[in-house]
Amino acid sequence: MTQQRYTITTALPYANGPLHLGHVAGVYIPADIYVRYLRAKNEDVIFIGGTDEHGVPITIKAKNEGVTPQQVVDKYHKIIGDSLKQLGITLDVFSKTTSKQHYKTASDLFKKLESEGAFTEQVTEQYYDEANNQFLADRYITGTCPHCANEKAYGDQCEKCGSTLNATDLINPKSALSGNKPVLKQTKHWFLPLDKYEPWLKQWILEDHKEWKTNVYGQCKSWLESGLHPRAITRDLDWGIPVPVAGGEGKVLYVWFDAPIGYNSFTQELLANDATRKWEDYWKKDGNSKLVHFIGKDNIVFHCIIFPSMLKLFGDYILPDNVPANEFLNLEGEKFSTSGNWAVWLHEFLADFPDKTDVLRYTLCSNMPETKDADFTWKDFQAKNNNELAANLGNFVNRAFVLTHKFFEGKVPALSTLEEIDKNTLAQAKEFNAKISDSLDKYRFREALSELMKLSNLGNKYLADTEPWKIKDNKERVGTILRIALEIAGKISILGLPFLPETTTKMATWLGISNTQWSDANK
Ligand code: 2FM
Ligand code: ZN
Repeated sequence: MTQQRYTITTALPYANGPLHLGHVAGVYIPADIYVRYLRAKNEDVIFIGGTDEHGVPITIKAKNEGVTPQQVVDKYHKIIGDSLKQLGITLDVFSKTTSKQHYKTASDLFKKLESEGAFTEQVTEQYYDEANNQFLADRYITGTCPHCANEKAYGDQCEKCGSTLNATDLINPKSALSGNKPVLKQTKHWFLPLDKYEPWLKQWILEDHKEWKTNVYGQCKSWLESGLHPRAITRDLDWGIPVPVAGGEGKVLYVWFDAPIGYNSFTQELLANDATRKWEDYWKKDGNSKLVHFIGKDNIVFHCIIFPSMLKLFGDYILPDNVPANEFLNLEGEKFSTSGNWAVWLHEFLADFPDKTDVLRYTLCSNMPETKDADFTWKDFQAKNNNELAANLGNFVNRAFVLTHKFFEGKVPALSTLEEIDKNTLAQAKEFNAKISDSLDKYRFREALSELMKLSNLGNKYLADTEPWKIKDNKERVGTILRIALEIAGKISILGLPFLPETTTKMATWLGISNTQWSDANK
């Protein structure tokens, strides 16, 4: 069997605005922790990200700002990419769905499936804005949600109750362009017959992937139990990838058809000039790679049902091994809202607190919306900084280093005779490697981070119990205690790297250790 590989993807945010802390807590932090962990274990992994640059969210933004869609996506691609980098998100590639390679990949795959008869073609009635001479796809239509009476539901989705909608389901539909009541007009589209895949999806998810997170599994189950329907994968729009087959003039691929293919296109871009690795290694069954999608809960159906159906149709492609989707993060008890300007924007946070990236990573990880929605508050941010990072981790590391400088001129002292408390502490410290691994293997990031903090607690307790600063005339004993404290600090620097990369890298430099791997924590 070929060696195990990993293909790790992060949801491609629409390039119509900057990222806020909700995106970061739900997707980029957990993905980066997971990838850094895999790399520390010397695994063969690629980490893929980029921006989603098609679809109505982009054209609406362009229209509102009086600029072209291209100008919109170029501006936000840069802001998003720079902010992720500054936060220490170590993507191997950060590309965009307007790239040349992506146009080619998405068009080729569409053509392949079309020629194999994988799609159905149907003439349907779609809303049309007569004042603007334009069909109104997805977010170009607003109206009242038939499920929850939200008056601002979109033609594809109600953001209030989360239901997926067809524009014709909306009560009182209005054009987002003219505000007029739209008329229905016939148009032809290509459909992905998801109903055909229902029996297979039921087996593959509900039987074969019972280990998926309960929030993900539950959402899939409810989709599958209410029955799948053919889904249009083309749109009457002028921004997007042109439908590359006869009869497709004036139409583009639906953004949710092309965007997930972006993960594959970007892999091809990443490895185009790589002498030793091929993109196929990370996408085809022969390559033995595990595909893991990090996303937010609003993307579950696309990554668990629609994209896997596409991957299956592509032939010899792997399917996701896991989709550890997170719920949402709120801000001071309210939903993040771009239009309502209720958000902490990542690039603004980083401009205001350039040296607090680890504090942000810590706060968002310890409060990750893993199984239910979570809340970000500035009070909690402050408390986590002061009472956890500074009081626990900072205090322990500081004491271990300061005392070593004070008593041993900064040289790591040797171990001498071990007392019971030393043996116990060392034995307990040794268990954290397996504990943190076990949590990360199960995508339990909060639990993993809390184990790391327990390791630091163990160090604090050990120093408090042994009180090396009080010991007179027994330098050997002081040396042994500080040596053990420094070993715990060394473990923290290795096992803490995925969570707190800046802090732990500094610690490793102070300790004079470099190029460490996960297993070195127990050396
Ligand atoms: O929900 C969103 O922001 C989408 N742009 C996510 C796309 S993820 C992937 F499929 F590209
Ligand atoms: Zn609703």
